[in-house]
Amino acid sequence: MAGRAAVIGAGGGIGRACLATFADAGWEATGADLHAGDGLHPLDVTDPEAVDGFARQVDADALVYAAGTVATMPVAETDPAVWRRVLAVNLDGAAHAAAAFARTMIAGGRGGAMVFLSSAAGVRGEANASAYCASKAGLIGLVESVAAELVPHRIRVNAVAPGNVDTPMLREVARGIARAEGRSEAEVWAGLARTGAADRILAPGEVARVCVALCGDAFSGVTGATVPVDAGYLLS
Ligand SMILES: NC(=O)c1ccc[n+]([C@@H]2O[C@H](COP(=O)([O-])OP(=O)(O)OC[C@H]3O[C@@H](n4cnc5c(N)ncnc54)[C@H](O)[C@@H]3O)[C@@H](O)[C@H]2O)c1
Repeated sequence: MAGRAAVIGAGGGIGRACLATFADAGWEATGADLHAGDGLHPLDVTDPEAVDGFARQVDADALVYAAGTVATMPVAETDPAVWRRVLAVNLDGAAHAAAAFARTMIAGGRGGAMVFLSSAAGVRGEANASAYCASKAGLIGLVESVAAELVPHRIRVNAVAPGNVDTPMLREVARGIARAEGRSEAEVWAGLARTGAADRILAPGEVARVCVALCGDAFSGVTGATVPVDAGYLLS
């Protein structure tokens, strides 16, 4: 099945790779991001009406939700506004997208597929990332609930849980850790590569290929799953 695909967060490392991978696989792909440009639709996922408008405009057969934001700090120093911002983008925005795309996919009657970017940090908690881990764990609950609900409509809903991927987000995390710990960014980057049993940082395309494949017929029997794409991050 290759039809119309929507990518939310399409300006980021993984989202941009998803857009390209959808196009390579013959999908008609439309991207949206807070920072529009390069033909992307401007969209703030924290605005449910805007998300609904985008869903109705695209009338997609497939959605990848790759919008996200991160905060790394000790829980005792986490400002409520930081907590709210992380949850608003990573979890509330995903819920708005699930609702809006469920409405258009159900109305279209063609079935469909949705993939949400969770994280290895949503499967196993990590220090200094309470808001991020909570948002990504919550996303897995959202995916399982929506997947169960949409089975009768032949709409499959899955999560992908990447390990460390070379994107602007991970570069920002590495810079933050380096500043906080007085280490070089290269040293921090090398440490990130060796998380769990992983010995490298993934390329965005490695994650995108799984997201796009999950939307296709090869995975017609898979729904409600959380698929790690982590080069061994969750293994020890
Ligand atoms: N890079 C990694 O190592 C990694 C690991 C695990 C999970 N993830 C997850 O994968 C997803 C993509 O991450 P990435 O690494 O490509 O990050 P990224 O920072 O490169 O891209 C995230 C995109 O989300 C967009 N965005 C942020 N707030 C938004 C809003 N309010 N409305 C619309 N768009 C908004 C940003 O503009 C950006 O283009 C995120 O959910 C992230 O948490 C990334």
